[in-house]
Amino acid sequence: MELSPALLESIARQFGTPCYVYDDGKLEAQCRAMRSALPEARLCFAVKACSSGAILQRIFSHGFGADVVSGGELVRAVRAGVQRGQVVFSGVGKRNEEIEQGLQECVTFNVESLDELGRIHQLALAHRQKAEVFFRVNPNIAVDTNPYIATGLYSTKFGIAEAQLETAVRLARSLPSIALTGLSCHLGSQIASTEVFEKGALRLAELAHPLKQGHPEFQHLDLGGGLGVAYEPNQASPPSIESYAAAVRAGAAAGLKLTLEPGRWLVAEAGSLLTRVITLKSTPQKHFAVVDAGMNDLIRPALYKAFHPVRSVNPSGLSLQTYDIVGPVCETGDFLALARVLPALRVGDLLQVGICGAYAATMASNYNSRPRAPEVLIENGSARLIRRRETLESLFADEIL
Ligand code: LLP
Repeated sequence: MELSPALLESIARQFGTPCYVYDDGKLEAQCRAMRSALPEARLCFAVKACSSGAILQRIFSHGFGADVVSGGELVRAVRAGVQRGQVVFSGVGKRNEEIEQGLQECVTFNVESLDELGRIHQLALAHRQKAEVFFRVNPNIAVDTNPYIATGLYSTKFGIAEAQLETAVRLARSLPSIALTGLSCHLGSQIASTEVFEKGALRLAELAHPLKQGHPEFQHLDLGGGLGVAYEPNQASPPSIESYAAAVRAGAAAGLKLTLEPGRWLVAEAGSLLTRVITLKSTPQKHFAVVDAGMNDLIRPALYKAFHPVRSVNPSGLSLQTYDIVGPVCETGDFLALARVLPALRVGDLLQVGICGAYAATMASNYNSRPRAPEVLIENGSARLIRRRETLESLFADEIL
């Protein structure tokens, strides 16, 4: 949120609103901090958090690999120059074509089921390859986060249940085109406690220990992503990167090499969404500021009741007013922020919605036939377009009348 009002106003004028803006300085600081807290780990950026090519290039240039969950993300990562051997392929439903793409790029597959293991084996055999796999384990550990993004419980679709691990390992070791080299887990996202990471790490290390015996190729522990950020001003600070590093290292103590899949923590605070007030209206109950960004540009408030900070870039008056900041989409759930106290707004005012570097642009849609917003990267104080605003023509391009 520290970008200067003059810079933000000039970006809004040049590229229009709504518009996503990323601060390269902040991105770089996060990458460096994580790299230096965990120099020994293979850090694979979760591409789903923020997938513009220019951002991926920046992140890969700091020595990060990629965690991908689709063939599309894999192609994005390769286009942006990810190094071979630095990609893990996660995801609960990998199609055969996607597995073949993965084999071509020599990824490590985070395998989620016995059926998937069988398909990877068959395809690797057909291509005369040996596929490197980790088993994604579901350790049935509860996490205090939004239930939609908690993934480590048996009630979710993710991973191979601990109880089925032995059978899965026996099967993997009987398949000549499979090299089982590690275990992985991802307990959830926006996790605010290091205890959870430590618990997951220790549990995985415990499970991995007997699997190492007599199997020198089995050397890895992938502890997923999940470190959270503080979205709300009064929220307790999330764990420091050093305490997170100490927690995940508890798992590596058993002589295993760490892979991690950080997403949000690296990019969230580097991004903002710029939007202008289209109109102001009041009902007997509320004041609404209707802005030109909607739930199609930032779905997190509607989907998870997520809080994003909002500030008026050039406040004109001193008097304060409480607003619901809502988009133009025809749904009551189309809001960016509720009951926010801001300096009285005027039509045309520019607002900065903060902490939008993760899961904002990547979750955007064309709902209400709204073209997706452009993305701009600020490097050394100057702004560069890294993704153009979508055109209406491109929205219709694939339709057949
Ligand atoms: N690895 C796996 C297997 C994942 O499923 C995820 C996120 C990550 C890594 C990265 O997690 P992070 O470090 O970003 O927490 N759309 C939601 C978040 C969904 C997270 C999905 N998985 C949101 O806006 O909060």
